[in-house]
Amino acid sequence: MGREQFVKKIVCIGAGYVGGPTMAVIANKCPDYKVTVVDISQERIDAWNSDSLPIFEPGLQDRVENVRGKNLFFSTDIDGEIADGDIIFVSVNTPTKTFGKGAGKALDLQFIEQTARRIKENSTSPKIVIEKSTLPVRAAETMAAILHSGENSVRFDILSNPEFMAEGTAIQDMENPDRILIGSHDTPEGDTARDELVKVYENWVPREKIITTKLWSSELSKLVANAFLAQRVSSINSIAAVCEATEAEVTEVADAVGRDSRIGAKFLKAGVGFGGSCFRKDILNLVYLCEHYKLDDIAQFWNSVIEVNDNQMERFVNRILQAMFRTLVDKKIAVFGFAFKPDTGDTRDAPAIYICKRLLEERARISITDPHAIPSARKDLAGIDGGAEFTEAPYEAAKGAHAVALLTEWDEYKDLDYQKIYDSMSKPAFIFDGRNHLDHEKLFDIGFNVYPVGKPALTHI
Ligand SMILES: NC(=O)c1ccc[n+]([C@@H]2O[C@H](COP(=O)([O-])OP(=O)(O)OC[C@H]3O[C@@H](n4cnc5c(N)ncnc54)[C@H](O)[C@@H]3O)[C@@H](O)[C@H]2O)c1
Repeated sequence: MGREQFVKKIVCIGAGYVGGPTMAVIANKCPDYKVTVVDISQERIDAWNSDSLPIFEPGLQDRVENVRGKNLFFSTDIDGEIADGDIIFVSVNTPTKTFGKGAGKALDLQFIEQTARRIKENSTSPKIVIEKSTLPVRAAETMAAILHSGENSVRFDILSNPEFMAEGTAIQDMENPDRILIGSHDTPEGDTARDELVKVYENWVPREKIITTKLWSSELSKLVANAFLAQRVSSINSIAAVCEATEAEVTEVADAVGRDSRIGAKFLKAGVGFGGSCFRKDILNLVYLCEHYKLDDIAQFWNSVIEVNDNQMERFVNRILQAMFRTLVDKKIAVFGFAFKPDTGDTRDAPAIYICKRLLEERARISITDPHAIPSARKDLAGIDGGAEFTEAPYEAAKGAHAVALLTEWDEYKDLDYQKIYDSMSKPAFIFDGRNHLDHEKLFDIGFNVYPVGKPALTHI
């Protein structure tokens, strides 16, 4: 299909969890646009071009197969596609910096800078450059400095368009977003670039859901949205600790509190803590930003969200240790779920990583099961001494185990035959339900000693 058949050419740099699904949705919704996703990783691009996509996300395979080769393409020809593109999304990874100034807090912007330089070097026509990656506030200033440096007289307009989808429901979230946020410079050129992007989203998103703001507000809003979501998880987890001490039940408290329409019921589930590639990293970045502006009390406030999360994982391990007679040496623990949430194979910053490492430190033997995350789990625990086994079969994981620790609320774990699991386990058999996902009374009746989060244990001991 020739260029003339498309109104505009969109290029997305970075074919990851964000770049792949967002562009698959745009290509489906905007048949007049040619959408090409590029990446430095040949392996990732090959996977996007194959039947076995590099990431698991419900509905993604259909969306990709529907338009791949028509108006959706995956390529490693980054330079050629930049040269040819009109609208360039930057969706590369922005992990927490692990070295030098800001290590452990600031975002590592090396991939963003490399991308900006590459855009500059390969551009001979005007481009709209869109920050899709999550970036520190005023990152667009840095991008502009690179893009407009030297001899190149090409016009670049920078927009911020952060992504709010959640893994596991990415397609649904992008097809029916709560809002689309576009930040632009308050100039006539900024307005024109913004309107180009509004036009793309208007193909399927009602105009009133497309919010347009100043650039810095848009950049900051993404960090704040993640900080608020994570804060709710830490808030309810802190109350779970109070419930465990007082024999109140966190699910009852969350229901009573969440029914207040000013508070709302979502993101009030106690558990083993939040994970994923974004929450910790984005809060750390917010903390770094506050420290930079000498807002130390505010930095401390947001940092406590992370501290509560870390303590929550440790409290879960302690509960296991206390319940199982203060020793785990040579006891087998079946870990149900390793992904940071259900319906994804992503294990980045999953609580399971920390919890499994701690269980191994206590010299437990662990048998990890997960429907989609076993390959990542193997990598996450590679090189760690101790006995970790991996299986996709939960019954196999539980065979001979002294305890089950449920860490990811996969739907299928609700429907397992827990009588069969109980019969195959060492006695006394324990279940630590780190997501309050199972029917605790029923498990207790079968014979399990049941330890939910933020609720009294049901025990036969
Ligand atoms: N994963 C999420 O749920 C989510 C949600 C919203 C926002 N975000 C943000 O979106 C951004 C991307 O996240 P992700 O989860 O998709 O990351 P990812 O690691 O899955 O994907 C990033 C991709 O960028 C590629 N890349 C890196 N440098 C490159 C370069 N110079 N040229 C070309 N390709 C390059 C990598 O090879 C990788 O495939 C991050 O800033 C993240 O914070 C992520």
